[in-house]
Amino acid sequence: MDYTIDIATAEDVDAAANICALALGKDQYDCAKIDFGLHLTDTPYPPVNLVAKLKDGTVVGTIQSVISYIAPKVRGIAWLCVHPDYQRQGLGNALLQHCENYCQEQFWNNGEGSFVLVTKNREDFYLKRGYKTIASDHSGKPLMIKKILAKK
Ligand SMILES: CC(C)(COP(=O)(O)OP(=O)(O)OC[C@H]1O[C@@H](n2cnc3c(N)ncnc32)[C@H](O)[C@@H]1OP(=O)(O)O)[C@@H](O)C(=O)NCCC(=O)NCCS
Repeated sequence: MDYTIDIATAEDVDAAANICALALGKDQYDCAKIDFGLHLTDTPYPPVNLVAKLKDGTVVGTIQSVISYIAPKVRGIAWLCVHPDYQRQGLGNALLQHCENYCQEQFWNNGEGSFVLVTKNREDFYLKRGYKTIASDHSGKPLMIKKILAKK
């Protein structure tokens, strides 16, 4: 699969929300559309909205990272979604790695930091990628964290 991972623009918001709805269920569309509409680039720690696109511009994957209220060196991961027809080809992994690297370079000056997320049913996916389950949220979903070491 030939794709690029880019910062989502305002034109990508609808397509990104569609991918989230396809991957997670139609009821997620409105919430995803609001979240991917967040482009507060004049704040010190803006959300990072990424989309994976095929050569013809079709959006096939999404991820978002937002600042957590815990500290600037802790960011949340959300909306990691791949179009069902393009899953199990390495795109989900690539989006997660790209997002982690981008945030480390952009916000932590390549120093250490942490990512947190809550997952409904993909704990296995994140465990294999260095995340650890540290608690459950109010509805019993795993709360996971990954500490990123400073780049040398
Ligand atoms: C979770 C999700 C984003 C993963 O996306 P993906 O593109 O399928 O992810 P990857 O292809 O990188 O990895 C998935 C599996 O496919 C395997 N895989 C990767 N490339 C492969 C290939 N060429 N052939 C066969 N399998 C492959 C990976 O090894 C991985 O298995 P593992 O987790 O046991 O290691 C996707 O399943 C999804 O959108 N799910 C619904 C939304 C969701 O639940 N998101 C998480 C919210 S917290």
